[in-house]
Amino acid sequence: SELERGGYPHFMLKEIFEQPETLKNCMSGRINVEATNVTLSGIIDHKDKFIQAKRIIIVACGTSWHAGLIGKYLFEEFCRVPVEVEYASEFRYRHPVIHPEDIVIAISQSGETADSLAAIELARHAGAFVYGICNVVGSSIPRNTHSGSYTHCGHEIGVASTKAFTAQITVLTMMALAIGKEKGKISVEKYLAVIKELSHIPEKIERVLALNKSIKKLSRIFTYARNFIYLGRGYNYPIALEGALKLKEISYIHAEGYPAAEMKHGPIALIDNEMPVVAIATHNTVYEKVVSNIQEIKARNGRVIAIVTEGDKSVKSLVDHCIEIPSTEECLEPLLTSIPLQLIAYHIAVNKNRDVDMPRNLAKSVTVE
Ligand code: G6P
Repeated sequence: SELERGGYPHFMLKEIFEQPETLKNCMSGRINVEATNVTLSGIIDHKDKFIQAKRIIIVACGTSWHAGLIGKYLFEEFCRVPVEVEYASEFRYRHPVIHPEDIVIAISQSGETADSLAAIELARHAGAFVYGICNVVGSSIPRNTHSGSYTHCGHEIGVASTKAFTAQITVLTMMALAIGKEKGKISVEKYLAVIKELSHIPEKIERVLALNKSIKKLSRIFTYARNFIYLGRGYNYPIALEGALKLKEISYIHAEGYPAAEMKHGPIALIDNEMPVVAIATHNTVYEKVVSNIQEIKARNGRVIAIVTEGDKSVKSLVDHCIEIPSTEECLEPLLTSIPLQLIAYHIAVNKNRDVDMPRNLAKSVTVE
């Protein structure tokens, strides 16, 4: 009902706008007020397991799998432990090699996804330590894991996941920081800098949400595109995948997410003046590389919408449209870059009169394999 939607036309929009608040809730009691320390009860109790782990295997489906990919970047950077990210449905039927020294992390909003549940069963049988990152308290995955962390982002109603996704990334970030510190693999300076910046993410998301009007306007130009390409590198590569998935799910426009540099090995053949390309080109260690990937697209008349860092000049002069977001630590950029992509998908779907909260053929919780 109107009341439940809190004045928003759709739950999805309400949930997108809730993100500053849901991330505060997710961090509450975990990051101390001075933003100098992070503690997760699910890890503290099993510190040695995490210190000794030879490998982390992340299993998930859909949007949660995209969060898992970001987890790989985080754990490898801050904990120096190898990470594999698996679709639960593939993992469970592949005779995967699982050791008792492995930690298997299942990420699931609902905590009921059949394939993810089966994947952790398998992991437990192999003797691995199983950790859950779930939103629904008391659901099947948390009940079948050795430990875990809830995302605490509240009930998510829109079928296309938004606030659960950013909360999953936030939990993974806090885990990587806490484990990295225990293992002595992250410098004190970096640890403190990331925690401090993480505590500022909610207000920075507010600033991205303030761009909603201009994103809505921009979305009108692209409502009738038949295809879309989303590009990103590094921490923003999984965000490109997620941006494309959001658009597919609710607008039914075909979209592909790609690592920007892989473009030249195929997808660049698709570029012409009817192909909108959403490129994440924030000011980070791969910035120059992404700029040259954008040049390749412009040289073939592609139409580029770029997500850039406030104050950017080089990309701005190159592309058709720019969305400027606040700067942050590179590893936290996904928490900001995902927001404009959620809004683009939302507005295009609304323009096309789609059932945004309940897209055809999709279910919020997939309890059958
Ligand atoms: C369904 C939903 C997706 C979700 C996926 C995994 O397909 O439509 O939005 O990402 O399941 O769900 P989970 O609850 O395990 O995160």
